[in-house]
Amino acid sequence: MKKLVVNGGRKLCGECVVQGAKNSSLPIIGATMLTNGENILHKCPILEDTITACEILTSLGCKTTWQDDSLIIDSDGLCNAQISKCLMNKIRSSIIFLGAILARCKEATVYFPGGCDIGSRPIDLHLSAFRKMGVNITECGGKLQCKVMGSKIYGAEIFLSFPSVGATENILLAAVTAEGETIIHNAAVEPEIEDLCNYLNKCGAKIFGGGTQVIKIEGVESLTACEYSIMPDRIVATTLLCGLAASGGEIFLRDANPKDLSAVITVLEEMGCNIRTYGDNIFCQVKKQLLAPPPIRTMPHPGFPTDAQPIMMALCCIARGTSIFVETIFENRFRHVFELNKFGASIRVEDRVAVVEGVAKLNGACVSATDLRGGAALVVAALSADGKSEISEVRYIDRGYAKIEEQFSKLGGSVLRV
Ligand code: EPZ
Repeated sequence: MKKLVVNGGRKLCGECVVQGAKNSSLPIIGATMLTNGENILHKCPILEDTITACEILTSLGCKTTWQDDSLIIDSDGLCNAQISKCLMNKIRSSIIFLGAILARCKEATVYFPGGCDIGSRPIDLHLSAFRKMGVNITECGGKLQCKVMGSKIYGAEIFLSFPSVGATENILLAAVTAEGETIIHNAAVEPEIEDLCNYLNKCGAKIFGGGTQVIKIEGVESLTACEYSIMPDRIVATTLLCGLAASGGEIFLRDANPKDLSAVITVLEEMGCNIRTYGDNIFCQVKKQLLAPPPIRTMPHPGFPTDAQPIMMALCCIARGTSIFVETIFENRFRHVFELNKFGASIRVEDRVAVVEGVAKLNGACVSATDLRGGAALVVAALSADGKSEISEVRYIDRGYAKIEEQFSKLGGSVLRV
């Protein structure tokens, strides 16, 4: 079983390029099922989750090939409309394939998805939208049998009671080749949604308002594969910035898309980090002890992202004063707290609120990743801690970070995989 060994207390310094976004790659990989011909996805990060997404495509009859971080997908041979329970269990995004399979095959058999244990993560919004679009769905023992009732999915006006990222993506995938027009009200506005819409429009879709709360989709007959570059990963950029802030020093992040990071950058500045942006790049310098920020409440975009909450919490452990986190998106997203306290942090949790009393320093510890972002938080804590730390269950971190040890080592951190 692999683990990360981190020798903390070293300042970070240098330059690095932010990897492509996992949460944009996954729906775009699913979307390739709707296209004729060969797609080339550049800056597609090679991660456990994108590899699983390719396994799903292969199991459906599509061809996938990696050339460095470019992923080539040809979905012409798609001949199966069923995803196995085992593959559905491996990643939450497996459910995003449902909209595309239904659009392409008019039927699908899938299971409830797995993924990180950060809450109950229902899919009711996905299913009720599909039903409104003319899909008959029966559930039995975790298995979902879905069949388009007419000759095609039909467009519908859909009002989401919550701006779910996954539901917005799934509806988009079902709607782009549907009969007629679909309107999604209260759609998610996360940058990854806009990236998916940009990809689909490049393939010939007619989507208007991607990245806003009302998305209009005019169904088209067919889509043609294209060459596309995935957007930068804003949570990986957050992790690098928090790792630097925890260690001190200065870094230059290339391809970081600062406009997608506004909520995180605001907090880092409030804590005392010196941040400058140059086009798509970010320079960040940290010279003094950080201060606790005003209370942080996780919110849908453009609010503070839930995925950044554990990582920012690790940083706040050594900020002077009391930091407060309110987690409003997922009900079980404080599992990292128990592990962070092993470094000597002082965090209390009451329901959906975590209170962090800053301590002067953290000490190296043996800890275990609990989920993807909780695992990244442990790396940030270990970078700032005195002495050696060991982080086990690295498989969680590998779901979203392309060799996190190399990313921090390039910047002068001592992070080894053993
Ligand atoms: C996406 O998950 C991301 N995953 C998550 O990132 C991210 O935390 C989340 O969006 C919020 O930003 C991917 O893109 C692969 P949601 P998703 O549907 O689509 C409730 C990471 O670490 N809800 O917006 O699953 C749900 O329970 C991961 O990279 C329903 O009630 O998120 C939750 O409380 C973790 N019914 C809230 O909405 C539904 O049908 C947000 O979920 C769907 C969602």
